[in-house]
Amino acid sequence: MNIKDVEFIASFPKVSACPVDGKPEFAFIGRSNVGKSSLINMLCNRKGMAKVSVTPGKTQLLNYFLINQTWYLVDLPGYGYARLSKEKKAGFGKMIKNYLTQRDTLVVAFVLIDVRHELQKIDKEFIDWLGENSVPFCLVYTKADKLGKNQVQSNVMSIRKELLKSWNDLPDQFITSSETKTGREEILSCISTTMASFSEASSVKNL
Ligand code: GTP
Ligand code: MG
Repeated sequence: MNIKDVEFIASFPKVSACPVDGKPEFAFIGRSNVGKSSLINMLCNRKGMAKVSVTPGKTQLLNYFLINQTWYLVDLPGYGYARLSKEKKAGFGKMIKNYLTQRDTLVVAFVLIDVRHELQKIDKEFIDWLGENSVPFCLVYTKADKLGKNQVQSNVMSIRKELLKSWNDLPDQFITSSETKTGREEILSCISTTMASFSEASSVKNL
């Protein structure tokens, strides 16, 4: 997919305030500081479009970008900040849960995991929760440039092994780097393909 046009729409505080024009959308989520904003900027080829934060936990709203006038890219708030108050932290948050379970036009949520570390408890809990709630998702490993190729492969294997303790099968996965643009074409082509089947399904629903 060629990204010709990116327009920031707005930041919404809750799912009921989000656009109602029925365009398909793709969300990006992960632990604070995992590299969401950097990945979004890399995918869109726009430096500084999504704010790359110095302070973890800056993105607290549902941030909507309209791509090529056809689909929404949604930058979701990070979960699991160490420095937020207990209520604000509250697991991965009611707003995120509501968004993921209630948003009919959400096609796929991309869940970002930092490839440098072992699978964190909060990531495992979040991914298991997605499964329990039938939210379609893909896994995106970030910051691959910070490790050697073999180390990336071995970390991915051990994260998958951990996840497979509670999953029979895992969805598509992407190894990425916002620095080297690794994984860009693969993610954009996944978006193109799933968007085509989403549009087909919704046109059948509306017959
Ligand atoms: P919050 O909005 O605070 O939740 O953070 P975020 O997940 O949006 O992360 P952000 O993109 O702000 O990146 C966090 C830090 O990691 C920044 O210092 C980035 O420069 C760095 N970073 C992100 N992606 C990569 C990557 O692929 N490679 C390298 N080397 N650094 C990265
Ligand atoms: Mg961010």
